[in-house]
Amino acid sequence: MRSDGMKILFCSSEAVPFAKTGGLADVAGALAGALKTLGVDVRLALPLYRTIREKCFGLHPLLRNLTVPFKNEALKVNILETQGYGDVPVYLIENSDFYDRPNLYGNDKGDYPDNLERFAFFSHALLRCAESMIFSPDLIHCNDWQTGLIPALLKGPYRHNSILKGTPSVFTIHNIGYQGLFSPDEIEKTGLSKADFFHINGLEYWGKISLLKSGIVYADAITTVSPRYARDILTSECGMGMEGILSQRKAALSGILNGVDDRSWHPAKDPHIVANFSTENLSGKRACKTSLMNEMGIDASLAHRPLLAVVSRLDAQKGLDLLVKIIDKVMRLNVGLIVLGSGNHTIQQDLRQASRRYPGRLALKLGFDEPLAHRIIAGSDIFLVPSRYEPCGLTQMYAPKYGTVPVVRKTGGLDDTISEFDPGTNKGNGFKFGPYKSENFLNSIEKAVKLFQNTSVWKKIMDNGMRADFSWDYSARQYLQ
Ligand code: ADP
Ligand code: GLC
Repeated sequence: MRSDGMKILFCSSEAVPFAKTGGLADVAGALAGALKTLGVDVRLALPLYRTIREKCFGLHPLLRNLTVPFKNEALKVNILETQGYGDVPVYLIENSDFYDRPNLYGNDKGDYPDNLERFAFFSHALLRCAESMIFSPDLIHCNDWQTGLIPALLKGPYRHNSILKGTPSVFTIHNIGYQGLFSPDEIEKTGLSKADFFHINGLEYWGKISLLKSGIVYADAITTVSPRYARDILTSECGMGMEGILSQRKAALSGILNGVDDRSWHPAKDPHIVANFSTENLSGKRACKTSLMNEMGIDASLAHRPLLAVVSRLDAQKGLDLLVKIIDKVMRLNVGLIVLGSGNHTIQQDLRQASRRYPGRLALKLGFDEPLAHRIIAGSDIFLVPSRYEPCGLTQMYAPKYGTVPVVRKTGGLDDTISEFDPGTNKGNGFKFGPYKSENFLNSIEKAVKLFQNTSVWKKIMDNGMRADFSWDYSARQYLQ
């Protein structure tokens, strides 16, 4: 399918290679590139964070002193331009008060207190940018709560705008757990009229403003990042309070699976790993394992035992409390374990305590480290993703491409992408467990560790994973449709 030059403004609060805290960045950078390949005239828009400026992406000015009406003031904004993956033009919204900070969303003390203003301003600036004829889109694609205000602005203050009136919006839910909740006293910062928008059929959510709900209510189409999660979020178990409003908008909701971007995640081309490899020649994988064990201080005596790994945000969503509960039993299987993660302090502490009990066997690295994430995914044997819920999940798709076999919980996109290995048919690319119980997780790990001993069977599982097609092309076509 071609797009006949459809113009899409793709709005995101993060995108690779510019700014990343999680999978949204991988998806925004890759999907924009994949749409461009299909002939879409796509522009990606991001806030100009400090990290982007520091990394010098060859920014050049596109528009100076654009006036953005915001909170009864006329703020001036500069828009800079650079190129993203697949030569997608990227627009960066400059506002040093809002975006020239060490992090994207917050610090050790929690979220930045002015996040509503920061992302409301971003949304207003993007619409002004579109209106100023720099790029007047046929469609605006919004992602998660940070850009959830845009669909409401299009239906409100911009509905009679000569350029933007009638412009449809798509809202993609990457994670329903992040709802963009703010005090109702802040409504004037959104630029929306309280009477018209702050009610139960609008963006009011249990007395608060929800920018996620704004996207759900006012976008013309809603997508989420896997077919199963599209069903999950209609239930009280996974809808996190949004299941009612989503059920009302069910006809507009679809689930489109994320893909894997070969430019960033490919064992034969990855510049972050010590040796490249492929299904035909796995010697590089062995070199990656040896080097990773060395780097992380895992005892060389475990060289022929399975090396387990986690790369994750440390958040209740990711189910690492299950791992903490069974860690002693897992270590009794005589395996190595590497955990890379950043986030929640309690989870950090639990992992730190466990790692102290197993020097040379359990290595913990706290922090966000992109190259190390690649080295771990390439060098380990078994990759653990026991999420409580998972809209799509990307690491369980990256790992098998590198011959690393995932053990996942049967939820959301994990269920859609991983199939249980069946020794009878030799089909399947990993191991899955159902109910959220530590003993179920342990059973699956034990099953994987046992099969690891059988070299020919293990090679078959690796091969199934390495050959699977999770390319963006198919998903981008579904978005286009
Ligand atoms: P989520 O977006 O919920 O965090 P995904 O699986 O969709 O989960 O995407 C996570 C992305 O963030 C992957 O690219 C993964 O490699 C990366 N990642 C997560 N934690 C870290 C970390 N501590 N250091 C480096 N990369 C990380
Ligand atoms: C979210 C989800 C994750 C998904 C990612 C990209 O952060 O938690 O499951 O893969 O967005 O869509």
